[in-house]
Amino acid sequence: MKAKETLIPQQQEPATASQQPRPAAASVLGISKSFGKASVLENISFDVAEGEVLVLLGASGSGKTTILRIIAGLEMPYTGKVILHGKDVTELPARERGVGVIFQSYALFPKMTVEKNIGYGLRIRKRKRKEIKATVNELLSLVQLEEHRRKYPSQLSGGQQQRVAIARTLAYKPEVLLFDEPFGALDTQTRVHLRREIRALLKKVNVPAIFITHDQEEALELGDRVAVLNVGNIEQIGTPFEIYNHPATEYVATFLGAANILDAVIRKDFIEVGSAKIAATLDKESFRDGDCVKIVFRPEDVSLNRGDFLRPGHHRLSSARIEEISFVGAYERVRLLVESSSDECKTDETPYYLTTETPDRKPTKSIIATRPKPEASTTRLQVGERVVVALTSFTVLPQKKH
Ligand SMILES: Nc1ncnc2c1ncn2[C@@H]1O[C@H](COP(=O)(O)OP(=O)(O)OP(=O)(O)O)[C@@H](O)[C@H]1O
Ligand SMILES: [Mg+2]
Repeated sequence: MKAKETLIPQQQEPATASQQPRPAAASVLGISKSFGKASVLENISFDVAEGEVLVLLGASGSGKTTILRIIAGLEMPYTGKVILHGKDVTELPARERGVGVIFQSYALFPKMTVEKNIGYGLRIRKRKRKEIKATVNELLSLVQLEEHRRKYPSQLSGGQQQRVAIARTLAYKPEVLLFDEPFGALDTQTRVHLRREIRALLKKVNVPAIFITHDQEEALELGDRVAVLNVGNIEQIGTPFEIYNHPATEYVATFLGAANILDAVIRKDFIEVGSAKIAATLDKESFRDGDCVKIVFRPEDVSLNRGDFLRPGHHRLSSARIEEISFVGAYERVRLLVESSSDECKTDETPYYLTTETPDRKPTKSIIATRPKPEASTTRLQVGERVVVALTSFTVLPQKKH
């Protein structure tokens, strides 16, 4: 099923190398898993290309770690296959798969120096001393820890320890690198710094990587693509741009940040949202005239205007009354009550999602807009004032098939 198609989105996804199709380096095909009677994964499939970072994003208990454990060979799937570089490894024991796993507690050997830790995997594989030395040197330089080579883990910062763990895993040239919330124990600033470092490092080594997180921002910044998991199902896989701007489901839309959701009706060449008619060309197979749908838009897709004059590309939604204005540092957040109007598709409880970005109230027709600083300081708005609300972009969610 095609997710969505609107005329409105004018943002073009920035061209990246990840958009070109690349052969799969690691794949899972139709994986299902149950523990006792509880089904934990249902028919999960995805590919990771050489050098690509795929992020698995999902709430606690959605099955992220179970997927990694199946790829690593620490858990058997009930159905489905794991393929690494063209080889079916589903039946292979963990140690024969060549999978590098980095967990939150990366368990460096406390009595070994940095260089001994990194060379450990090669020593137990009985590699020649000269080869071990060369590899360790190369990896120390890659993770920029040359000057710390003789230190013990307890003498390193959390971030440095993390880099040792990665170098130790890279030493035996894994087919795929798996990261299970490796930054879980670190403070926000270090996390942000490390995810940029790790991204750069992964691009250099060109090994496919699967990275688990439940942090939306981390997923968007780190992943070439992101798979959003919801109780054992993949809701959507796409580039960070696609999943953020064109969510395929309500779950994806709301999981990735503040989302406004309104009821709408499909008409021939437009969609009807309350009394507004917004031009849109929709895929005829997914949407029919008269269908009741929901539209999703981000707070930054809303533009607020004093008059009826709208800039090109801005589509009038309705007039609205400002209920609340809050200063949130980088931008101003405005809560508005949009005009309610009779609507054949109106559902009583149009959901209003509370995320860390939305205020803690539950009016049914409130929407949130954000305004960047320059705009907020040039045009000052007041609580109680009426404004015209326009949308610069939105997505029509496909209807759930019953
Ligand atoms: N060995 C097991 N036996 C029984 N149930 C299990 C087992 N391992 C995982 N589960 C269940 O499977 C579900 C998914 O667990 P999983 O660890 O994959 O979640 P997760 O997405 O990694 O969560 P978190 O973000 O909290 O780490 C959970 O409901 C969990 O209780
Ligand atoms: Mg987990």
